[in-house]
Amino acid sequence: MVRQTHDEAPSQDVVDLLVEQHAMIRELFARVTGADARNRRATFEELARLLAIHETAEEEVVHPLARRLLPGGDGVVRDRLDEEEKAKEMLARLDEMDAESPEFLSLLDELRMAVLTHAQYEERYEFLYLRQQGSPDQLARLVGAVRAAEGRGADPASPRDGERHGKPAGRSGVGAVRPHEGRGQEGSDERDVTHARVRCSSPHAG
Ligand SMILES: [Fe+2]
Ligand SMILES: [Fe+2]
Repeated sequence: MVRQTHDEAPSQDVVDLLVEQHAMIRELFARVTGADARNRRATFEELARLLAIHETAEEEVVHPLARRLLPGGDGVVRDRLDEEEKAKEMLARLDEMDAESPEFLSLLDELRMAVLTHAQYEERYEFLYLRQQGSPDQLARLVGAVRAAEGRGADPASPRDGERHGKPAGRSGVGAVRPHEGRGQEGSDERDVTHARVRCSSPHAG
């Protein structure tokens, strides 16, 4: 039956979703760079929001799973968190800058290169292995966990952000752009992994 076929063969798994977001991020960088000075701030805020929800989902759902499933997962994830932290610091600086200034465009280009390189590393060193090690069912179910994490990353008033930072979001309105967030999540990572494993338990799960 059509419904059974659809259920058994989900159209998108967590890797598809995150790779698709990498393409959207790449496109948004091009749009911010190409925007005229008056529209640059608004387009940058769109980019900042997407980066915030994307990285929140990776830090809460994907990196913890990669840490457990990948050979040398601790080191791989540590490198990705370092890259994310540096990107957040640049994003926070941009958030406070005049978007019409030449300095803004210069730092934006630095951020673009850092983020796109980081995305390539994720695809090469994490996502590829998750595809190999995770069952199709497990990877498809993680889409829901990613969507839930993205909802928390997009909401600057969420308890998650308020508890962690105790201060308002930046000009972009995105609390999750604050630096050092990835480092502060080690404890919650473990809880989220446990939840993800429970939700995604299957005969094939590793
Ligand atoms: Fe990332
Ligand atoms: Fe990513």
